Amino acid sequence: SAPKITIIGSINMDLVTQSPRFPKVGETLIGSGFHRFMGGKGANQAVAAARLGAEVTMIGAVGDDSFGRELCANLKREGVNTDNIHTASGQATGMANITVAENDNHIIIVPGANFSITPADIEAQAPAIAAADIILCQLEIPMECVITAAKLAKKHRKPFILNPAPAQPLPAELLPNITLLTPNAYELAISLGLPEDTPAETLMQQSPCPVLMTRGAEGALYHDEQRHVQHQPSFKVTPADTTGAGDTFNGALAVFWQQGMAEAVKQACAAAALSVTKLGAQGGMPTAAELARFLQQQ
Ligand code: RIB
Ligand code: NA
Repeated sequence: SAPKITIIGSINMDLVTQSPRFPKVGETLIGSGFHRFMGGKGANQAVAAARLGAEVTMIGAVGDDSFGRELCANLKREGVNTDNIHTASGQATGMANITVAENDNHIIIVPGANFSITPADIEAQAPAIAAADIILCQLEIPMECVITAAKLAKKHRKPFILNPAPAQPLPAELLPNITLLTPNAYELAISLGLPEDTPAETLMQQSPCPVLMTRGAEGALYHDEQRHVQHQPSFKVTPADTTGAGDTFNGALAVFWQQGMAEAVKQACAAAALSVTKLGAQGGMPTAAELARFLQQQ
């Protein structure tokens, strides 16, 4: 049966400018395109999981404005349960200013309503955590909310996957409540308070909780059920926009979680590869049928 996934996190409107290259400080460039896309790490992960057939409940907040209404309507259209999304009056919906250039991106987020969520709001969502098979969280909502969510997940014996993005140091009280951490190498170094240039293998050894590290074109490194480090190669695609690849990865991982780490990681890498072939964080996120077809072709 379809896994029940509760996602606690951000909902943003992405304002995306395409440019032939990144501007230098103080420089003005002529861009090649501008788009408004639905985004936010939490919402993106929710859409990724819903497209793959999971029963997804999203917990988060938007402002009482047109962006907020559009974002909620989009989540509904994607089949995500939006009953637990709060409309924060007097707050602006979260937004992300994104530049896509040179096969990469620069992102500045202004959290707005996402940062109006409180630990008490999360406590009130205990039933949505208790009812889920798995909980997924990122770091675009206040850290105290992430801590509260992780504690509730533990209390209800639910796996708690934390995608520690954007990078920030993780408080000691959070770490023991994490079932799996899904950073890239930079995010893991910052998460653990280690130097940015610490080698990936060392970071994997130093982590107090199990890690699944995304490595872009190099695929992923992960702790298997015996805590041994394994490698999943990446799938080769022609990238149009890497924004949201990590979100697709996390959403897919949660969907395939019950099939064991090796299978879940493979599916997540394949889903992320497909997602980067289309513009926009949610553009290119595959359905279950599209993902299966892609894996057959490999
Ligand atoms: O991970 C990609 C997302 O990060 C974008 O959709 C943007 O909203 C930022 O939150
Ligand atoms: Na995309």
